[in-house]
Amino acid sequence: MKYHRISRELFVRNRAKFVKSLAPNSVAFFNSNDIYPVSADSTVAFQQHRDIFYLSGVDQEESILVIYPDAFNPMHREMLFLKETNETIAIWEGEKLTKDAAFQTSGIKTVFWLTQFETVLKTVMAQAENVYINTNEHTRRYSETQTREDRFIQKLQHDFPAHTYKKSAPIMHRIRSVKEKEELDLMQKACDITAAGFQRVLNFVKPNVWEYEIEAEIIHEFIRNRSKGFAYTPIIGSGKNACVLHYIENNQQCKSGDVILMDFAAEYANYASDLTRCVPVNGKFTKRQRAVYDAVLRVKKACTKLLVPGTLMNEYHVEVGKLMEKELLGLKLIDKTDIKKQDPNWPAYKKYFMHGTSHFLGLDTHDVGLWTEPIKAGMVFTVEPGIYIPAEGLGIRLEDDVVVQKKGAPFNLMGNIPIEAEHIEELMNKKSR
Ligand code: GLY
Ligand code: MN
Ligand code: MN
Repeated sequence: MKYHRISRELFVRNRAKFVKSLAPNSVAFFNSNDIYPVSADSTVAFQQHRDIFYLSGVDQEESILVIYPDAFNPMHREMLFLKETNETIAIWEGEKLTKDAAFQTSGIKTVFWLTQFETVLKTVMAQAENVYINTNEHTRRYSETQTREDRFIQKLQHDFPAHTYKKSAPIMHRIRSVKEKEELDLMQKACDITAAGFQRVLNFVKPNVWEYEIEAEIIHEFIRNRSKGFAYTPIIGSGKNACVLHYIENNQQCKSGDVILMDFAAEYANYASDLTRCVPVNGKFTKRQRAVYDAVLRVKKACTKLLVPGTLMNEYHVEVGKLMEKELLGLKLIDKTDIKKQDPNWPAYKKYFMHGTSHFLGLDTHDVGLWTEPIKAGMVFTVEPGIYIPAEGLGIRLEDDVVVQKKGAPFNLMGNIPIEAEHIEELMNKKSR
């Protein structure tokens, strides 16, 4: 792992929060992700499943976490099952967790090798009444691939059909959405690495630079700061490419007079950050670009203030819509007639701002959280309004990551990243261009 060791106290506390929500005599299982294949003998770099990581800190494939607070045998109350390492693995892959290292990482005293799982499973299933399984209930989940967790659940329900099965997902969504101090520090670190990437971009962008050259600068800065890399596939879209919301080709040349929309951010210790900034290729916004930029920035500033405890995210999005409507009228992109005859389910402003303004952020970029409940202090959200005008070859989005406070405005984890148009221009023009 490139990141510094995380205090195991965090994972001990996380498990305690999970256990509080369990029904009596319940056992819960959490699996690592598979290592996903490409073809032949190549694989995609391992990404740990965020739930087992959140509850144990174990960042290794083929691991199982078992939580059974009412187990008859105290050794069975918390258990890790890990792949036993050997000389061949040590030579080809390097260090894997020993039993002691797994304890140091997680605070879990009972660590077994995976080969013992079937035996222990029979013992705990004979005692437990309820079984909490970890299905993916993200509202935007999309996968045709069966995960290691899916396979595990299928076999468990086949072998033990008489148990009562319950869902871990709502518990995980609730506890993961309110961040601990240590998590906020890790997220701040991710944001600071992102900030370094943006600083480097400001010194680098000039007419005729290619979008992929910008991407290359950023990844260099991330990895040299102990990040594994991008928290999500980066978008570096100049001119009209900025209007393609999920543009990831990043293969065009940036022309003087265009604006580049850059939605990129670092991960750190599996925690995501999520940034968007827009800069003029030649170091100076045109009057029109500046007007659109400032409109987006005003919306961003105003809607950030709405992220206070008690806010309902659906009501928040309605409020943001009103702010955006006002700005689009000012920019003469829509008029009063458009609003009068608008479809209430797809208001006129959506023509230029068609995505959500905020999402939960944490171990996942589009993190888990309960969208139907009022928001709480300690939750982290993005704030990312945008205006996209394909006819003008211009798309502006501005995105920061903020922490909801007990009182007052949220804390901006990206408060040190330049965002005012004049500041961006000033920094871009500092060096001879
Ligand atoms: N970068 C993904 C998003 O902004 O939601
Ligand atoms: Mn983003
Ligand atoms: Mn985002």
